[in-house]
Amino acid sequence: MNKRIPVAVPNFIGNEKKYVDDCIDTTWISSAGKYVGKFEKEFADYMGVKEAVSCCNGTVALHVPLIALGLQPGDEVIVPSLTYISTANVVRYCGAVPVFADSLADTWNIDPEDIRRKITPKTKGIIPVHLYGNPCDMDPIMDIAREYNLFVLEDAAECHGAVYKGKKAGNFGIASTFSFFGNKIITTGEGGMIVTNDEELAKQMRVIKGQGQDPNRRYWFTRVGYNYRMTNIEAAIGLAQLENIETHIAQRRKVASWYMEELNGMEDYVELQHVTEGAESVWWMFSVLLKDKAKITRDELILRLEKDNIETRPLFYPMHQMPVYFDPEAKCPVCENIAARGINLPTHALLTREDVAWICKRLRYHIAE
Ligand SMILES: Cc1ncc(COP(=O)(O)O)c(C=O)c1O
Repeated sequence: MNKRIPVAVPNFIGNEKKYVDDCIDTTWISSAGKYVGKFEKEFADYMGVKEAVSCCNGTVALHVPLIALGLQPGDEVIVPSLTYISTANVVRYCGAVPVFADSLADTWNIDPEDIRRKITPKTKGIIPVHLYGNPCDMDPIMDIAREYNLFVLEDAAECHGAVYKGKKAGNFGIASTFSFFGNKIITTGEGGMIVTNDEELAKQMRVIKGQGQDPNRRYWFTRVGYNYRMTNIEAAIGLAQLENIETHIAQRRKVASWYMEELNGMEDYVELQHVTEGAESVWWMFSVLLKDKAKITRDELILRLEKDNIETRPLFYPMHQMPVYFDPEAKCPVCENIAARGINLPTHALLTREDVAWICKRLRYHIAE
């Protein structure tokens, strides 16, 4: 097979073009316009929450609630070391300190016991991340938060529609946030959303993301705010994507099931991410960890698959191992072990059964034959 297989591709199967044309035809292209409110309302309904506040990306969607919750310089927030950089950066934007917790060896999500170990008198909150679409085990995390009076802000950037114990992931903390970057379950190009059942918090977050402007008096500013608004064009794409979200999720689950079938019998060579007990993953990224028996290293495998025209990605590097947050004392051995051995395989709706068979055939060839 010679065609290139990318790791992620957006999938436009609905009204995306029609709604974007409408924005242009009506000249409503900035952050005012009917699609922003519509997308927020429909997303809140989909999530089963009172409020959804749109933002210009998933990173600022995390920053806004931290400001609204009053995070201060010197405060600490516990985040997984195995995550995308935004989860840690937003804590630092507030002058606070991200404290890195280890991962669970099976689900790769934050380890509740390590959260407990890393709590200090300065700890104000926890940001669990539903990694690669797999919900965290939220019950023990919420128990710890209640015990120590900490906020929980769920980083749900990768898990639109995933379920934990009958409720959508993103329904457990004081607020949760989503990304709509081009590679996500649903996309707006760049975009983000914060959801919450706390109406007062939502009101404050709308002011913060809208330059600090008084909602009842134009050009009257009540606090330092940011221009973190989503555009009408982005919201138009998002609304169209949301109309088909069940299809987008079903396609990813189908791709994951193909990988599992194709990798059956490879247990000596690769390990898969276990879905959290009581949860339903949306498989944002299907990933494998190489075992000792694999014939080449993870980085060598990425290069060889690249030569086969198959794009892959390394799992996220541990935050505490990178220059920006380097901390040799972080004590996250499980995270280090997972991250060093893992790759994300192509996971998107345009893959066929044959593509997945081909990817797994080449994977098997490189690591086992
Ligand atoms: C876990 C996690 N948090 C936050 C973000 C940030 O989202 P964005 O890229 O939209 O700023 C991402 C994006 O990839 C993510 O994977």
